[in-house]
Amino acid sequence: MAKSPQNLDSDLQWHLIGGVEELKQKVCRKVYMQGGQGLALFYVAPDKFFLTNSTCPHARGPLEQGDIEDIGGSFKVVCPLHYYSFDLVTGQSATGLTLRTYKTEVREDGLYGLTPFPVSLTR
Ligand code: FES
Repeated sequence: MAKSPQNLDSDLQWHLIGGVEELKQKVCRKVYMQGGQGLALFYVAPDKFFLTNSTCPHARGPLEQGDIEDIGGSFKVVCPLHYYSFDLVTGQSATGLTLRTYKTEVREDGLYGLTPFPVSLTR
């Protein structure tokens, strides 16, 4: 069966996103899964990266333009459209909506994301 963006929980694999030092240059950026789906990559100094879908589950706000808040040691992105916030690890929000999140891992050769498709910095 062909993979599709709707079939996100199957066939997750670690994919190299880019060099860690380059990715530390921006707090929020949009990256792209093969097939065109946008993801939001967040960096919180000194060494935390978070990867989520780039569209807000409420009304498709651009989460890569959101602010990051540290609420009791738990990092959340605040959507710029209606200010709902989503936990960057679990994707949960007080609204009951859940944002799709992906695990990340820093390795010797760069940052990896556990995603169903390869990820690149450009479309
Ligand atoms: S679109 Fe994100 S909170 Fe409404």
